[in-house]
Amino acid sequence: MASLSAQILLCITLMVATCSMIGVNGSVEGVQREFDYFALSLQWPGTICHRTRHCCSSNGCCRGSNSPTEFTIHGLWPDYNDGTWPSCCFRSQFDVKEISTLMDALEKYWPSLYCSKSSTCFSGKGLFWAHEWEKHGTCSFPVIRDEYSYFLTTLNVYFKYNVTKILNEAGYVPSNSERYPLGGIVSAIENSFRATPEVVCSKDSVEEIRLCFYKDFKPRNCLASKTSCPKYVSLPAYVALGSNESETDIEWISDDEAL
Ligand SMILES: *[C@@H]1O[C@H](CO)[C@@H](O)[C@H](O)[C@H]1NC(C)=O
Ligand SMILES: *[C@@H]1O[C@H](CO)[C@@H](O)[C@H](O)[C@H]1NC(C)=O
Repeated sequence: MASLSAQILLCITLMVATCSMIGVNGSVEGVQREFDYFALSLQWPGTICHRTRHCCSSNGCCRGSNSPTEFTIHGLWPDYNDGTWPSCCFRSQFDVKEISTLMDALEKYWPSLYCSKSSTCFSGKGLFWAHEWEKHGTCSFPVIRDEYSYFLTTLNVYFKYNVTKILNEAGYVPSNSERYPLGGIVSAIENSFRATPEVVCSKDSVEEIRLCFYKDFKPRNCLASKTSCPKYVSLPAYVALGSNESETDIEWISDDEAL
């Protein structure tokens, strides 16, 4: 009997170990090595909220005049210098109670901009925050060691560099008619942040801006090869849902929070 239960225990241990070794592409690899740098990923509500087709309470785009009009947080992501990243590094099921004291700030600066639930590492689906902590946060070890620190650290880094303000002061203000040179937007951030950001577009609209950091949170350049933007980009203004303007011909893009 003793050896049977030992075998069962070994089996379960192996299953758990295998689960935690599923890599970026779902391939089984060795235990994931420590990350190289952080990317603070910020999303532009003006672009994402244009795609909202119906509203729900979880969607920050649906708060009418209280909807976000500045860059909001997508997540703080540990990345590798080769362009890949670790994910789901250890079993830590998200517990919203651990971050209850941060809730006001999270609702305001780190809202979900979608209605659908996000995938989580081990429990299927959950809040946007659960996705970010389980998938990315758990891989920021040993710099960040627990859920509360992950959210607090991310908020602090976000407050330190106000990208919306940097762009506004350089003349890049939200507009549904202007096109801005991508190089100008990148330079404005470089001048203030002292490192090169990554800009992600959806068609010609800025969707995300990422700031990169060494493990001690000193700014560093993001990877040079990464950009999905044309030479001239727009920074769409938030359009209240229900108006005809939100029904432009931007195609529905599914809630891909795979990153
Ligand atoms: C960023 O700056 C803008 C003004 O340009 C301000 O309205 C906003 O509150 C600032 N955001 C944060 C998080 O400090
Ligand atoms: C959208 O436009 C149509 C006609 O073009 C108008 O009848 C309708 O009231 C508009 N809806 C809103 C929400 O503005």
